[in-house]
Amino acid sequence: MKIGRVLISTEDIDRRLAEMGAEITEDYRGKDLLLVAVLKGAFMVMADLSRQIDLPLDIDFMAVSSYGAATQTSGVVRILKDLDAEIAGRHVLIVEDIVDSGLTLEYLRKNLEVREPASLEVAALLVKTGIQQVPVACRYVGFEIPPDFVIGYGLDLVGKYRNLPYVAVMEDEGF
Ligand code: PRP
Repeated sequence: MKIGRVLISTEDIDRRLAEMGAEITEDYRGKDLLLVAVLKGAFMVMADLSRQIDLPLDIDFMAVSSYGAATQTSGVVRILKDLDAEIAGRHVLIVEDIVDSGLTLEYLRKNLEVREPASLEVAALLVKTGIQQVPVACRYVGFEIPPDFVIGYGLDLVGKYRNLPYVAVMEDEGF
């Protein structure tokens, strides 16, 4: 596998996150907003999106691990790190880098909803089209992308490439 064509450039990511941040700023004005990023992939979106939101918000992180094949989610999720604080009565916005099968998000929604937040929404930079195994309700979506294997901007291939400042497609090198 090698890094293939750039699917979404740094400039496009910056521009879209600024738009999403402005929208979130309007929607949550006057509310107690808590951004919850899902490690590890969402660390970069969290850093850049939060800086585009002009509100006195809080941030927290969860780490989850899905059982199953390395490049595919099984839907069985284990919490490696839970939130530091309770979320009852707070407006929670989950920040994700990518929604693929949608199973991780479905698990997280159910897990967080029972903690009775005032509201629970999702902001995802990337949503793969046509392959969600469960309906995904993302209030804020950066880009809809085809179901290719993508890396960069938080997304990894066996742990590597997360630091690329753009999203690229992985390609087979061929023989
Ligand atoms: C990625 C991504 C989402 C999940 C989406 O995380 O950050 O959390 O997969 O896939 P799904 O919609 O099919 O459930 P991953 O499990 O690769 O962990 P990572 O963020 O630590 O790389």
